[in-house]
Amino acid sequence: MSEPYQQIKEATAAIRSKTTLIPKLGLILGSGLGKIADQLKEAVHIPYGEIPHFHATSVEGHAGILSIGKLSDVPVVLLRGRFHRYEGYPMQEVAFPTRVVCALGIRTLILTNAAGGINTRYRPGDLMLIEDHINLMGDNPLLGPNLKELGPRFPDMTEAYHRDSLNTVRDTATRLDIPTHKGVYVGLLGPTYETPAEIRMLRTLGGDAVGMSTVPESIAANHLGVRVVGISCITNHAAGISAHRLTHQEVMEGSKLASEKLGRLLSNVVPLLATVG
Ligand code: HPA
Repeated sequence: MSEPYQQIKEATAAIRSKTTLIPKLGLILGSGLGKIADQLKEAVHIPYGEIPHFHATSVEGHAGILSIGKLSDVPVVLLRGRFHRYEGYPMQEVAFPTRVVCALGIRTLILTNAAGGINTRYRPGDLMLIEDHINLMGDNPLLGPNLKELGPRFPDMTEAYHRDSLNTVRDTATRLDIPTHKGVYVGLLGPTYETPAEIRMLRTLGGDAVGMSTVPESIAANHLGVRVVGISCITNHAAGISAHRLTHQEVMEGSKLASEKLGRLLSNVVPLLATVG
């Protein structure tokens, strides 16, 4: 057994020893979007420090807790806090929690993030359903020997974001009167925000929103054959669109604007996504 595979097994065994619930669906929550955890019933909360091979998170707004519980009666696993490439972790370590969550047996993974709006129609507080991504991180969690226990050497990414699930989320949002956009997420390395010239370039390339996460997790989940749903909370206009400078504070405030809508959308859509085979 390869060492990374062994580590995934150790982490999943530690998590399974704390609950009898078997999660059907996973959620990874971005900066300032952890509030949905309050809606979990029968929850167990496990600090990352108690899970073998997990790191503690260092970013403000990222709690570093794995929770398993029922959301709208569906057993789910929820990660509050993720690891980013810009923190200096190798991509394999960034993707490790995703692999562990998938190894718990989920069929669908919902990735949420805070992102800057490249598309000038987007406003802070809007939600964008990710229909595709562009990986401009210059890195990939599948670099190195392929872990064939997990998936193929050359995974297909045609539907990196599962189309039917995206349509379910969109229909549910419409029913709830929550406006959504559908667009392309561009993943950059960070930790600097972009320059206005970079944002103009990303717009020309077809990007609608920009952030520093999600791409590695989406790749790792696709490798494992787990369906991915991605939702970006547009927290700010990307650089150069508005006159002022960007701060993490603005991003945190923008995610607060979006988080009530996101919570309502997630609690309604999770039962629908969990029933697909
Ligand atoms: N750029 C990159 N990442 C981000 C942004 C942004 O404008 N907003 C939130 N995350």
